[in-house]
Amino acid sequence: MAKRRVAILISGRGSNMTALIEAAKAADYPAEIVLVLSNIADAGGLAKAQQSGIKTATIESKPFGKDREAFERAMHDILVAHDVELVCLAGFLRLLTPWFVKQWEGKMINIHPALLPSYRGLHTHERALTDGVKIHGATVHFVVPEVDSGPIIMQGAVAVRGDDTPDTLAARVLGVEHRIYPDALRLVAGGKIRIDGPVCKTDACGSPDDALISPEII
Ligand code: GAR
Repeated sequence: MAKRRVAILISGRGSNMTALIEAAKAADYPAEIVLVLSNIADAGGLAKAQQSGIKTATIESKPFGKDREAFERAMHDILVAHDVELVCLAGFLRLLTPWFVKQWEGKMINIHPALLPSYRGLHTHERALTDGVKIHGATVHFVVPEVDSGPIIMQGAVAVRGDDTPDTLAARVLGVEHRIYPDALRLVAGGKIRIDGPVCKTDACGSPDDALISPEII
């Protein structure tokens, strides 16, 4: 089967982007990364993508001022020009208008550093620690107009430790992000996910007795 053509949208260092690029090198991976698009000219991820031989482009939002749709039309045009079929947001820090989301409905996925629907928005690790949750994690989901919402494709969890700081927790969650984003894209690009209203259905599942209990009594 032909590989699905994927673009990754970034604004920063691009560690999730790198995880996707590395995974897509496997012969049996159902997606190929054809473009990395940034809204920030000096985003660290751009150089990393170029080193991997991936085509990059930058469309800065600033010249478009308040006209968010014009900025997004420019992004949309470049995605279409590259025959992109699926879009992965990977630390892309611009809110998207309903117009852009509609263009890529069911074809655009995002990774968020929390177990949605908990902790939408910013500072997820700080908020999780403040609340004293014992399990935290990351979510890959389809993008819908509401921020950090949309059918959930995959989640990964970590146990929160008593001595965690936002930085130590972020680092462990990031490790999980780098595992679940390539796996989630594999499912989506491989046609293994069906969107049923607000919910993703798939035959793929974890082992039925997988349990993460935190804290564990020793
Ligand atoms: C990641 O932790 C990602 O989950 C988060 O930004 C970071 C980007 O890092 N995304 C969001 O918070 C979106 N709501 P990266 O550039 O190294 O992939």
